[in-house]
Amino acid sequence: ATERTFSIIKPDATRRNLTGAVTTLLEDGGLRVVASKRLQLTKEQAEGFYAVHRERPFFGELVSFMISGPVVVQVLEGENAVARNREIMGATNPANADEGTIRKIHAESIEANSVHGSDSAENAATEIAYFFKPEEIVG
Ligand code: CMP
Repeated sequence: ATERTFSIIKPDATRRNLTGAVTTLLEDGGLRVVASKRLQLTKEQAEGFYAVHRERPFFGELVSFMISGPVVVQVLEGENAVARNREIMGATNPANADEGTIRKIHAESIEANSVHGSDSAENAATEIAYFFKPEEIVG
């Protein structure tokens, strides 16, 4: 079924001017960008977004990385968009990512891994609502 997922182009990618290159991989993979904006996250926004990881040892570094430069938050739409986006992104650690995936091609490390994507339809809905008003999404 057609569904929506949430994506972030992370600061390592915006810093290297890869917003278009990453978006092209998403589009070529069959997803449509139905909302997009470039933001400088605040510490509070990043901590809130990654609240599920608060107890992880890498939480502090993750938050400081995510506020180290601009991000592009996007809503992606397509057939099985959550799973499709995860295929297009590749594994969290670029060392384990398949050939042709965004992380294999562009990521620098497990932290600077160029993109975030929702891991379930339920989390996608929560993450989309964290950054977008309904009227900002145009399908
Ligand atoms: P993301 O999908 O944005 O969700 C949490 C992020 O934590 C993850 O991608 C990684 O970029 C980041 N991260 C940093 N260090 C680690 C680690 N050791 N294990 C898993 N994720 C990590």
